Amino acid sequence: MNVQLGSATEGKLGSNVLREPEINKSTETIKPSKGFLSRRSFLGKSLAVGAGTIGAGLLANASTARASGGLTAGDKAILRFLAAAELIEADLWQQYNELGGIQDSEVPGGTGNPAYTAAIEVLDEDMDQYIHDNTDDEITHAAFLNAYLTSKGAEPVNLDQFRTLPSSQATGAQQIGRLTNLMQLTVDTSWWTRYRSDNKNPDFGDTFPQAVEGLSVGQFPAIPRNDGDLTPPDHLQAIANTAGFHFGFIEQGGTSLYPSLAQRVTHDEALRIVLSIGPTEAMHFQTWHDKAGNAPPLTDPTNGLVFPDLNSPPFGGEEFQTNLIMPEPTIFLSRAFPIVSIIRPTETDGAAMAALNALTADGLFIGQTQAFFALLNQLAEAADHARHGR
Ligand SMILES: [Fe+2]
Ligand SMILES: [Fe+2]
Repeated sequence: MNVQLGSATEGKLGSNVLREPEINKSTETIKPSKGFLSRRSFLGKSLAVGAGTIGAGLLANASTARASGGLTAGDKAILRFLAAAELIEADLWQQYNELGGIQDSEVPGGTGNPAYTAAIEVLDEDMDQYIHDNTDDEITHAAFLNAYLTSKGAEPVNLDQFRTLPSSQATGAQQIGRLTNLMQLTVDTSWWTRYRSDNKNPDFGDTFPQAVEGLSVGQFPAIPRNDGDLTPPDHLQAIANTAGFHFGFIEQGGTSLYPSLAQRVTHDEALRIVLSIGPTEAMHFQTWHDKAGNAPPLTDPTNGLVFPDLNSPPFGGEEFQTNLIMPEPTIFLSRAFPIVSIIRPTETDGAAMAALNALTADGLFIGQTQAFFALLNQLAEAADHARHGR
């Protein structure tokens, strides 16, 4: 829905835009309903440009200004890319929730897979609750960003045509089309060592060792592909461990993406949105960083994937020890400054494309169409073209 907020469409505005976004959580589409903006604030704005007291030209200008809601083209591009990223996050978290989370009215869909849920809960007995809540958060991030874009006369992001990838065939999963593929992941686990280094920062070009080397080179399921994946026990636990490290990978990405893009938004309210959603990604990441450390060391007997004991040599120490989950202070901006505890990376140039490339390298989009990649590339390029002030 692309609704213009100009005065000529105010009649439509009252019935179409001033509404509360209602999410159909099974498909993550947005259905408007009443109450999003108060009728009073709408009338107030109408009176402010009172017909008859202001020339037609000025009225047209006011319409144009209100149509953009004060957002620059760059702001819209950044919020649109973030909406796409959130739709992708919501889709993958939904799949985790159907099998290993809590299925309820907030996050409907699926009926749970008891064996997978039990394997996930080896990492923490509250994992199902955390998976549910992370999923709920992503659904609301996507719905809010799209509703906000719509309210400002900008085009929201709809990826429904790309919900074509297969669901897990394991007991508990809904049989619907998906945006993302959780069954052939190549998980970059270098976030683990990146947040433990006190003298390196990816924004300085530094690279970091993997916590789980094997996950970074093969293709592994993070959810059972079918009920055959529920045995033998170490195979199922390896799938749950993979999910545990993938949770951290996804949420550290969001933790960097928001501050990276915040540096190039212009409008105060767009900045407020980015600064208010971004830290929730960091809250997710911190939780998952802690839980991944509880993934039991093992070797998957079906494919040789090794989860090492990160507390024992050659691992251990500040780079690997599992209870060191707070961000280690490190270099920032210049080595001339003292080290500081920070999110890393936060380089803004090319941040959207870097995020898209990281998700692609993760294997999430294996099976997606060229049209999907073309749209995501276009959204990332537009976001990276945004500059503060325009
Ligand atoms: Fe999110
Ligand atoms: Fe997230």
